[in-house]
Amino acid sequence: MQSLPMTTMLGSTSKLIMYENFWYVINPSLFRNVLSIQKHFVVKDKDIFIAGLPKTGTTWLKSLLFATVDRTNHPIDKSLLLTHHPQELVYNLESDVYNEAFVYPRPNNLNELPSPRLLSTHISYTSLPKSIKTFGCRILYICRNPVDMFVKKREINEYDQDSLTLPRLEDFFEDFCEGKVIFGPFFEHALEYWKISLEQPYKVLFLKYEDLKDYPSNHLKRLAEFIGMPFSPQEESEGVIQEIVEFCSIKNMKELDVNKNGVINNFFEKKSYFRKGEVGDWANHVKPSMVERIHKLMQEKLEGSGLSF
Ligand code: A3P
Repeated sequence: MQSLPMTTMLGSTSKLIMYENFWYVINPSLFRNVLSIQKHFVVKDKDIFIAGLPKTGTTWLKSLLFATVDRTNHPIDKSLLLTHHPQELVYNLESDVYNEAFVYPRPNNLNELPSPRLLSTHISYTSLPKSIKTFGCRILYICRNPVDMFVKKREINEYDQDSLTLPRLEDFFEDFCEGKVIFGPFFEHALEYWKISLEQPYKVLFLKYEDLKDYPSNHLKRLAEFIGMPFSPQEESEGVIQEIVEFCSIKNMKELDVNKNGVINNFFEKKSYFRKGEVGDWANHVKPSMVERIHKLMQEKLEGSGLSF
């Protein structure tokens, strides 16, 4: 660890450490958990992973994925999402499964999870265990307009209980542009998964938060096909897709008692996962000069990739 670059994290007493070109939090020991995953995680062919940076819509995708996979076990009015927060149904590898401080009930053994196992991670594609890349498992990646994501990320510093100060927007923006974001840099993180989604479309399905907001049913259909559990013509005509979309909408999810009260892992407020859920909220926060700079950066970083926001 001493040989790796480190930097401070704004508004937090935790530090970031750069490993394989991406930033991880040292305290709590997320970085150590990432190393454990690389060393010990045993993948299964049927595993389905949700990947993406925090604040890009991963909780929403967890609800959609879980409801889709579980639809043959539980009709929506009996969904486990009525009694469990999405984070409790799709475990995150580095924050939950490989976290010694993990407190909410879970199977001690990953093998006890029903097949297909639904898991999530914020780890870059580079640093995923090799087996995830070579086995038949699939990855759903979610990305979001970087300006929206950066505004949201600043508002919630979820990795430091003692963090009292909200960083100045200008400072946070500076760090964001320099790539100093937990699990980031943002663009490199997205571009890696984007590239694999083009080269191996059966391996990575790349989704954008904004597209999901605009056409949720179309993208849910794509998701179901990608994971090998397409909606049948009968399900389509019975409105199952629409039912899942409406059930997983932020309007519905944030009103469920299970998502309103209590904390996860003794720390994260359950309701904090469901906030505004709007596209373009950055316009209420960010100065025109910042928008200009980020658009320039976006052009530079994404040039020739085919990825745009
Ligand atoms: P806002 O902060 O813009 O409200 P993540 O789950 O990856 O941390 O992403 C959090 C963002 O997704 C938050 O955005 C949150 O409100 C939004 N979100 C959570 N559940 C959602 C849902 N069912 N539909 C749309 N957005 C949702």
